[in-house]
Amino acid sequence: MKIAILGSGGREHALTFSISKSNIVEKIYCIPGNAGTSELAENISLDTNNFKTVYEFLKNNNVDLVIIGPEDPLVNGIVDYLEKLNIKVFGPNKIASQLEGSKIFTKKLCKKYKIPTAEFGIFENVDDSNRYIDNAKHPLVIKADNLAAGKGVYICRDKKESYTAVKEIFDGKFGVAKNILFEEFLEGEEMSYFIVSDGKTFKYFGSAQDHKRVGEGDEGKNTGGMGAYSPSRLFNKELEQKIKDRIIKPTLKGINDLGTKYKGFLYAGLMIVGNEPYLIEYNVRMGDPECQTILPTLETDIIQIFQSCINEKLNEIEIKWINKKSLCVVLCSNGYPDKYKKNIIINNLEQLNLGENNYLFHAGTKKQDNKIYAVGGRVLNFISISKTYSEAKKNIYKNLEKLNWKDGFFRKDIGYKVIDK
Ligand code: AMP
Ligand code: GLY
Repeated sequence: MKIAILGSGGREHALTFSISKSNIVEKIYCIPGNAGTSELAENISLDTNNFKTVYEFLKNNNVDLVIIGPEDPLVNGIVDYLEKLNIKVFGPNKIASQLEGSKIFTKKLCKKYKIPTAEFGIFENVDDSNRYIDNAKHPLVIKADNLAAGKGVYICRDKKESYTAVKEIFDGKFGVAKNILFEEFLEGEEMSYFIVSDGKTFKYFGSAQDHKRVGEGDEGKNTGGMGAYSPSRLFNKELEQKIKDRIIKPTLKGINDLGTKYKGFLYAGLMIVGNEPYLIEYNVRMGDPECQTILPTLETDIIQIFQSCINEKLNEIEIKWINKKSLCVVLCSNGYPDKYKKNIIINNLEQLNLGENNYLFHAGTKKQDNKIYAVGGRVLNFISISKTYSEAKKNIYKNLEKLNWKDGFFRKDIGYKVIDK
């Protein structure tokens, strides 16, 4: 089979790696990919939001199946566009992708299907919002409705911060704002829960906890993710049953009731309070870096999973996992998540001998004249799978020391909640 993957991050390199292990795959294209994917696939430099040129490439190269990595093209309807032109594609369609594309869509669905989530209110202008803030309990969570690449969420400690958030959102900081979402602040521990669905049934696809803040001890600015571990330390059978029954099943029913189906990965961002799950947000794709963390423990041929989803036969396969702990540490460019330099050479990469059960997935890198350059904020993902988190952690930090990249930094405390000091 010929496979194409859309995207260029660590998630897409991890997907490329898993796909490359399948016996039935003869060729992989990455659109546009990164230096890491170019070792396993042919990188094709195209704009993933230009659906017409993507279609023409897939058609002209007889691609059998395309996997969509990031949320932007999904929310913009690439699946509907390609399916209409008879291209086989793995990912949710435009209606289903509103689960990530519109926070208000998801909140309304939660209300209708009684899915546990933070109490919320929706306002359409600054005056109504401010009137609400005048008497609101703080901390208060304020969110822009649209896709904001992980930004657009304010945890406001007092009224002053809340008025500022409202102003910034209605001033268009995250795109045109027709309305705004207020949420009760939930106090608990976050966990990511993943499933894969064919529209009729769904299956577990891993759990994880990530570290979103840039600084050690989970302090400082929000980032795309500085590291993760899988499985989540909160995970247990009783909790999983609640997540499936109260959150996943009613959500998929809600999508069915709209006259369509949810096909693809679904990522539930949860707040666990006691052993009770609350939905914070949905993402209609795998997480990054959760995907890099989870996929090395997947035993089943990933192409078999994609095909059974497309053919609506997911119930006929078993998804098998390696029973190990996985940890991922992200190496970033100095300055990230603020300004950082681009086109900085990364020496020593070729000489890096990772060792068994260790993986390196690229994110913001490019290859030029046989040299590797950092071109993004998050640059490389180091993963290790092992019997224990502490063993995995040791292996990763050994490899990061070996690489010794002076232009980057990484958090030294990834997984601190699951690793004894
Ligand atoms: P979101 O983009 O909706 O996932 O929000 C980003 C982050 O803000 C989440 O990962 C949580 O850490 C935090 N957050 C969002 N909503 C809430 C809430 N209602 N209560 C507490 N924390 C929240
Ligand atoms: N790691 C968070 C995300 O992928 O959205």
